[in-house]
Amino acid sequence: MADIDHLTGNKVLANEKIRVAVVGASGYTGGEVIRLLLEHPHVELAFLSAERSAGAAIGTVHPWLRNHPKAGGLKFRPLAELADIDAVDVAFGCLPTGALPERLPLIAAHAKRVLNLGGDYRLRAESEVRTHYPKTAEHPPLEDFAYYVPELSPEVPDGRFVNLPGCMAVTTIYALYPLFAGAGRTEPLATDRVVVDAKTGSTGGGRGSNEPPAERTGNFRVHKLYGHRHAPEVRQAIADFTGAAVDLRFSTHSLDVARGIMVTAYAELREGVTSLDVKRAYAKAYVGKPFVRVRPAPKAPQDFPMLKAVVGSNVAEVAIAVQGGQVVAVAALDNLIKGAAGQAIQAMNLISGFDETAGLPTTAVSP
Ligand SMILES: NC(=O)c1ccc[n+]([C@@H]2O[C@H](COP(=O)([O-])OP(=O)(O)OC[C@H]3O[C@@H](n4cnc5c(N)ncnc54)[C@H](OP(=O)(O)O)[C@@H]3O)[C@@H](O)[C@H]2O)c1
Repeated sequence: MADIDHLTGNKVLANEKIRVAVVGASGYTGGEVIRLLLEHPHVELAFLSAERSAGAAIGTVHPWLRNHPKAGGLKFRPLAELADIDAVDVAFGCLPTGALPERLPLIAAHAKRVLNLGGDYRLRAESEVRTHYPKTAEHPPLEDFAYYVPELSPEVPDGRFVNLPGCMAVTTIYALYPLFAGAGRTEPLATDRVVVDAKTGSTGGGRGSNEPPAERTGNFRVHKLYGHRHAPEVRQAIADFTGAAVDLRFSTHSLDVARGIMVTAYAELREGVTSLDVKRAYAKAYVGKPFVRVRPAPKAPQDFPMLKAVVGSNVAEVAIAVQGGQVVAVAALDNLIKGAAGQAIQAMNLISGFDETAGLPTTAVSP
């Protein structure tokens, strides 16, 4: 199945390499895209852009990459120089949200496909785009972007432009999807009202974050109780993937860790839905999905999803606990990998006809 390029329809050869650009490569997600692609069997890094760090060697900006044998010759270049090289097969958009729209014409002219990690083209409703992504509203896309969650989207996108999900949004989507997909029932397993409490590490704010480390260290605080832009994205995705209109309360908190997101979602089961129905729905939703793992029958705290089991990997862990008519769903992932760079590489693999798992780690880095 996975040997056809979805854009060209061509067969993919086992030793084929594609040429890739990383736009915004000196940031946290761009650095992770580079780190993972340095080990990818089908990728040649052709162009790495930076703004303030243009001209620097990658190991000076990302010291964790400096000892890789292929890193020595790699430097960041100003984005405008993308026009000076042969068109790349894929450009990963790792710019701060709002920076891509006005640069898209340049990138699209020199890349056959654009996979955007930023939020610019995730939402469809105009009023929400205006509220949460004003730059996108000013610069509408040249063509539609497909919103792509590899495990849940019904098709691998065959267009040139793909937008990946937000990190806290997708953690929440993995936690909630089986409750509303119904697993063969005509109705969702849960009632519409869902409360979500999401916690994220400091890299979620990007390298440009101006939060002093001393104020994050040893602290645990509110990020946004209302109005986070990932809330409409979760509503839109659950509606698209399941047909359910979820009444979502979504609050976010800042953790004192560099990486990792943990989401706890609370919902009420519909009349007659049993604990076994819920377990079956979660097992069915993610069967055969290499990067979303449902924790079987968790009892002890360490059986549940946790950051130390996922940070460093492209895996999202999911678990549920049912008590009476209530269900609590928990999900955890590494925001820079399964929430960003790894998710985008997984999408590239599927779109390009490579093995879905190529270049993507499943083990965490711990302790
Ligand atoms: N961080 C996460 O956990 C995460 C997860 C999922 C999605 N995302 C999304 O991914 C995108 C990148 O996030 P990030 O955390 O990697 O951000 P970041 O660490 O702040 O990096 C931003 C990158 O964009 C470059 N850049 C900034 N302004 C630019 C401009 N005007 N023109 C050209 N290049 C510019 C920066 O270059 P210089 O530093 O050299 O100036 C840097 O390479 C964001 O849209 C974010 O919402 C982030």
